[in-house]
Amino acid sequence: MGEIEKKLTELKKLREEARLGGGQKRIEAQHSKGKYTARERINLLVDPGSFEEFDMFVTHREKGFGLDEAEYLSDGVVTGHATINNRQVVIFSQDFTVRGGSLGEMFAKKICKIMDYAIKNGVPIIGLNDSGGARIQEGVLSLAGYADIFLRNVMASGLVPQISAILGPCAGGAVYSPAITDFNIMTRDHAYMFVTGPRVVKTVTHEEVTPEELGGADIHATKSGVAHLVADTEEETLELIRKLITFMPSNNTEEAPFVSCDDPIDRINDDLNDIIPDDHNLPYDMKQVIEMVVDHGDLFEIRRRWAPNIICGFARLNGRAVGIVANQPNALAGVLDNKSSRKAAAHIRFCDAFNLPVVTFVDVPGFMPGTVQEYEGIILNGAKLLYAYAEATVPKITVITRKAYGGAYDVMSSKHLRGDLNYAWPTAEIAVMGPQGAVEVLYGKEIKKLDPEKRAEFIAEKEKDYRDRFANPYNAAKLGYIDDVIEPRNTRFRIIRGLESLAGKRDMNPPKKHGCIPL
Ligand code: HXC
Repeated sequence: MGEIEKKLTELKKLREEARLGGGQKRIEAQHSKGKYTARERINLLVDPGSFEEFDMFVTHREKGFGLDEAEYLSDGVVTGHATINNRQVVIFSQDFTVRGGSLGEMFAKKICKIMDYAIKNGVPIIGLNDSGGARIQEGVLSLAGYADIFLRNVMASGLVPQISAILGPCAGGAVYSPAITDFNIMTRDHAYMFVTGPRVVKTVTHEEVTPEELGGADIHATKSGVAHLVADTEEETLELIRKLITFMPSNNTEEAPFVSCDDPIDRINDDLNDIIPDDHNLPYDMKQVIEMVVDHGDLFEIRRRWAPNIICGFARLNGRAVGIVANQPNALAGVLDNKSSRKAAAHIRFCDAFNLPVVTFVDVPGFMPGTVQEYEGIILNGAKLLYAYAEATVPKITVITRKAYGGAYDVMSSKHLRGDLNYAWPTAEIAVMGPQGAVEVLYGKEIKKLDPEKRAEFIAEKEKDYRDRFANPYNAAKLGYIDDVIEPRNTRFRIIRGLESLAGKRDMNPPKKHGCIPL
């Protein structure tokens, strides 16, 4: 064997060793839990054959506490670049077969290296998380490694999209890297995220709780909002990343990829004319409205089960990706509360950071009253939403389908917050409050003085008066706060035309270090 053959054989051997991660036994253990290995996940995620690995030969440096007994090439995390739908991304994939995917000094350096690479090259960062957290044997080196990653998460925020898949445990301070990223996608039954695990919880609060109850995928999808998406399997989780990324540009200086569209832009949908019930208090499904308007009815919803009273997601209009925000009359009458305000604010800020126009559908009775909401800070949370709309400089198109009452009218991408095109359907009701509340405030004393049998008639008459005067879009249209009152069935065409006219929009906020969004 010549010298070069020997060297090539050695290289091949080392590569094979690295690909084995923590060894065949641990790979089998991973498979027996119904989980893929770090490299298998990458192969499922990226375009076939596109992955270029970095730092395969890296090993840990710290030798204490038994770490000198075994050395694993790659040190428990697989990193590199690849393409997804022919677009560049960088990826790290934590390898649970190596010391439970725990993060030490060199492991963290590998992640930092590809994050720096992504920031320099303007490409999205995708993290596949499956880890026991800080590598205990490496002590403060592990903690430092996490902080180095957190810093880069913050630096990359708003510069390149960051997506985290949670495919196994994610505990302790380790959750704060995914928390800073733009989207967390969790796999049901395998993934959990918490700041402290069930054992510590029991010690501190005496609460008995399972990992799933504390931080499983469904909990984070319904109660905390930490999970933007949940999938049943790892394959589905990775497929969601592939789809999600199609709606966003690679970085903040680019536009999202255009997809050629064969859904006619002037597709008229007569059903839209009939969707608002005659009874103003009856609900309807705003999702149907959106689906009738966007290309091929394809709405990619985010945080679907958290704050369902507001719909946030992505869609395309004539092939151009947009962010969608919409009150949902089918859930809590579409009211704005703490969660829905935060949910929409986060979505708008993502869209604004990445040049995605925001299309808003409004049917909102106002902000949710009561002690629960006030104690949880509806003042600050509602202000977040207002702030997000006001600071956004991307094209903003608003369609008021029915109610736009009170402060919620102002907040939901109104003209006053730099809405570019504000449309209303003829069924729109733009007023300080709903007829019931208004009559109660304006005529409360008179009503009390009336004979009980005359009260209902009086109230109905005053409510009708109020409705005739205020519950329409024309008072706002007269003042130019509404650019046009449009026929519902033409909504798709009108929005697409609007987006075309706004394609060259340039708007800026005053120069400053950063604003102080109420947190
Ligand atoms: C070193 C670890 C490890 C860790 C797991 N392992 N976690 N090694 N540091 N943090 C090793 C195990 O010793 C074992 O090694 C292998 O990984 C697999 O672990 P198992 O326990 O056998 O697997 P499983 O039963 O599936 O349980 C997984 C687990 C559990 C739930 C993640 O290992 C666990 O609770 N680990 C500790 C979690 C934790 O408390 N982490 C610290 C969080 S604090 P062998 O050699 O047997 O294969 C933190 C601070 C960060 O992260 C702060 C940042 C600011």
